[in-house]
Amino acid sequence: MHRRSVEDPEGFWGEIGRELPWIEPFTEVLDWSEAPVAKWFTGGKLNASAICLDQHLALRGEKKAIIWEGEPGDVREFTYRELHAEVGKFAAALKARGLKKGDRVAIYMPMIPELTVAVLACARVGAPHSVIFGGFSAQAIRDRVEDGDCSVVITADGGWRRGKVLPLKQEVDAALEGYEGVHSVVCVRRGENEVAWTEGRDCWYHELMDAVEEPAAPEPMDSEDVLFLLYTSGSTGKPKGIVHTTAGYMAGAYLSTRYVFDLREDDVYWCTADVGWVTGHSYIVYGPLANGATVVMYEGAPTTPHPGRFWELCEKHGVTIFYTAPTAIRTFMRLGDEHIAEHDLSKLRLLGTVGEPINPEAWIWYHKLIGGERCPIVDTWWQTETGGIMISPLPGVQVTKPGSATRPFFGVDAGVVDEQGQPVEDGKGGYLVIKKPWPGMLRGIWGDEERFKETYWSKFPGLYFPGDGAVRDEDGCFWILGRVDDVLNISGHRLSTMEVESALVSHPSVAEAAVVGMPDEVTGEAICAFVTPRKEIEDPDALEKELIIHVANEIGKLARPKEIRFTDALPKTRSGKIMRRLLRDVAKGAEIAGDTTTLEDYTVLAKLRGDEA
Ligand code: WTA
Repeated sequence: MHRRSVEDPEGFWGEIGRELPWIEPFTEVLDWSEAPVAKWFTGGKLNASAICLDQHLALRGEKKAIIWEGEPGDVREFTYRELHAEVGKFAAALKARGLKKGDRVAIYMPMIPELTVAVLACARVGAPHSVIFGGFSAQAIRDRVEDGDCSVVITADGGWRRGKVLPLKQEVDAALEGYEGVHSVVCVRRGENEVAWTEGRDCWYHELMDAVEEPAAPEPMDSEDVLFLLYTSGSTGKPKGIVHTTAGYMAGAYLSTRYVFDLREDDVYWCTADVGWVTGHSYIVYGPLANGATVVMYEGAPTTPHPGRFWELCEKHGVTIFYTAPTAIRTFMRLGDEHIAEHDLSKLRLLGTVGEPINPEAWIWYHKLIGGERCPIVDTWWQTETGGIMISPLPGVQVTKPGSATRPFFGVDAGVVDEQGQPVEDGKGGYLVIKKPWPGMLRGIWGDEERFKETYWSKFPGLYFPGDGAVRDEDGCFWILGRVDDVLNISGHRLSTMEVESALVSHPSVAEAAVVGMPDEVTGEAICAFVTPRKEIEDPDALEKELIIHVANEIGKLARPKEIRFTDALPKTRSGKIMRRLLRDVAKGAEIAGDTTTLEDYTVLAKLRGDEA
């Protein structure tokens, strides 16, 4: 199948495309004439919410679509029929508020069923959604709402996280202060916390729903109509709105979920990601629901109220497929094996990981302790930009290797090249590239065509460059080596060094800042910031705390530096470029040796290295 999928992609994807329920069939599988902007399945009309819901009513109407558990332990379930009704109703409610096809909607919500409902309701109306992870700050919300020109925001009063209610609506209010572009803020009641109210703009979800008389039918969408924007970090300070369209993205999410997770009718599937990230889009919402799967969704933190929370949920809901991030696995490794032994995990049959390279030690632990040595592990490599899984074992087909994502998925033609774009020998490191278009590929960066071409297509003309390094071994298995650009991967979350640097220099006490990643046992990478203050600092500890809070306010808690080091000067080359390579060594060295050497010494070192550069 794989050979055919790369030798005859149009034949292969044509067949897969025809498995989706079309309102009007497509006429052409791939139009690559405007490369690198691809068009897939052109001429057809369809609707993503109808793929996820309407098509299942006849055969799976009473099957559970969502089994949701809140952090406090409350459980809600939706059959496909119920979810279909809820989504149809909310789509109608949004239309009644004036939302039209093509308008953009920002979604800033906790992991509650209404988040899935909101996403699918937008798809039903044909209004591209832009989900903003609930950990982002007001400033980050504002940037995204403005960049995407969103006219509606969907949020909740609050959501449960680590035993507390996070006040989400409050962040939205702060984000929209003095901004006129949003006409409606829809608020779901979840946290029961007090919220401020802007009359005319704000409305309760439940009140809108009560007023709906007729659910909305799915809007017929062109294959290449935008389904969603999702912001992710690149190597500049400004996050980019990755654009995904309808048919190609859905075909990729549908097929990859089916094969990578070997999905069967009676599976109970749980992906622990947040819908605020692409993993949640493709593998909590669109992929599993397109396949008619039963999806577990959990609101809270993995260790609240106790360290065995995830395993309790697996046992309680009979989870058979479990998909999580290496950071989570490493966290559990540290918490102790006794929390696992208390739970019956015998229903699990397949495990997955995503978001960052998994170290072989964590892989083996996952295999033994969670998988009972009987469950295959699919280590899935992909990106926000790729829409769906690109490199992964197919369980039962490929021999897995701890630490390797193994082989390219159907339709994916991957390779490893050197600086000149020439293929490197197997076993040698280089840049990962994708050589042919695939249906789920991004169609652009919202409002910035040039940046799209520059970022992904200019390093190696004609090849897609994802920004990762890789090695392919003699068996044809890929080992992902991590980012080769200025993108950090903290707990599987992407951040650019520049983004954190701009946040730091926007503080009045900071003259200059350089941010690098340093290895971290749990989060994979952690942020180390080198900061030159404007004037002599009296209390470095106090300033460090203040800067950490400042970064959290500018971007979100996920971007907080683990360490801030003050220095009189940053090591630079003669041309004035900050020597990050050197700073990375400094950050790493200190981590390992607990070194107390002052940075001035390194400035000297930097000058020496500058000579050699
Ligand atoms: C990294 C998450 C190694 C990689 C789906 C990529 C991985 C970035 C893996 C995308 C993996 C993701 N092994 N590295 N299995 N999966 N990555 O856009 O560096 O949040 O470029 O998408 O995560 O992160 P993003």
